[in-house]
Amino acid sequence: MDDLKIVNVVGARPNFMKIAPIFEEMKRTSGFDPYIVHTGQHYDPVMSDLFFNNLGLPEPDHYLGVGSGSHGEQTGKVMIGFDPTVRDLDPDLVLVVGDVNSTIACGLVAVKLGVGLVHVEAGLRSFDRAMPEEVNRVLTDQISDYLFTTERSALDNLVREGIDPGRVHFVGNVMIDSLLHHRAKAAEQTVLADLGLERRGFALAKLHRPANVDDPAVFADLIEVLGEISRRLPVLFPMHPRSRARLAEFGLEPRAAAFPDLRFCEPLGYLDFLQCMDNAALVLTDSGGIQEETTVLGVPCITARDNTERPITTTRGTNVVAGRDPVRLLAEASKILDGAVPAGELPELWDGHAAERIVRVLVEHERRRREPAGGRGTLA
Ligand code: UD1
Repeated sequence: MDDLKIVNVVGARPNFMKIAPIFEEMKRTSGFDPYIVHTGQHYDPVMSDLFFNNLGLPEPDHYLGVGSGSHGEQTGKVMIGFDPTVRDLDPDLVLVVGDVNSTIACGLVAVKLGVGLVHVEAGLRSFDRAMPEEVNRVLTDQISDYLFTTERSALDNLVREGIDPGRVHFVGNVMIDSLLHHRAKAAEQTVLADLGLERRGFALAKLHRPANVDDPAVFADLIEVLGEISRRLPVLFPMHPRSRARLAEFGLEPRAAAFPDLRFCEPLGYLDFLQCMDNAALVLTDSGGIQEETTVLGVPCITARDNTERPITTTRGTNVVAGRDPVRLLAEASKILDGAVPAGELPELWDGHAAERIVRVLVEHERRRREPAGGRGTLA
């Protein structure tokens, strides 16, 4: 059969480490003709280029350069940029990952052009439609031909939404493929030494969600929480541009500066951040991926949200979903710092081989679909 031409989409920071192992596996497998299209949703060197370098990803074949904007504007711009790219490349499949605006925008373009759609990290649900990512997840899953899931609960969510289970494939977690692959290299970085931080001697913060940093009162409370934690051990907070802008806009900088051991820095690259995570005494975050990564590293994680779309990290992992109440957040941090470290267990199939399983499923199904007797039926 002809090579399977696949366009892999990246847009925002959490996409890069998911596409890297998939793209590498496609390159390694005969019969694949993979491309990378970068929408440009994230564009600062520290939010994008650094990740390409750290992960050994080649330059994208196409860069759409959409940049920032309101959700509607950004989603629309990605669609406008991606449509001619897909027409030009004429792929068999478009593969999208995660739940960012680029995910749904490129997914929609693919299906409107009659190109099969692959969604990696399907079926995760926070059941909170106020999160832009939740809407992106639900809609992308509805239009996908192949849905690759990271944990078993995802299948129940998808079936409840009327999706044919024959399209769903439980393969494990490609983000963990990247983590396991790069962990040793991350250990060789010098970021901790450069910052004078010691193994298990500091806490790491990563907060950027609108619900936490766009509300002055909530963000102020979170700064207080981090400040209080910093009385016990240094807290490192690499700041997403959104968080950095809000800190200044809300006049919170003097408050933060009152805590000498609450340290802010620029966003870190993939390897530096992995070294920090692997050595932290605890991580406080509102990110999705970090809940999963800390589970695999066995590092205690406190999630400053009311819900998680990744329940396996709380049932098997090291994650506790603690909401935004400062008293509760501090109580959870104290428990950990007093020695009550959760004993995490590796979730099923988070073993570094998820990308191989994805590629195997695509090969088998696409071969069957292209058999002359079967004609050009539906995918999966
Ligand atoms: C996006 C994703 C979120 C993900 C996060 C990871 C959506 C809906 N949200 O949120 O799920 O957790 O990425 O980082 O897709 N900015 C820069 N430089 C950049 C990128 C952004 O300065 O390279 C600033 C801009 O002011 C921009 C703001 O950050 O307006 C927000 O960026 P945007 O891509 O809209 O959403 P994120 O908050 O990054």
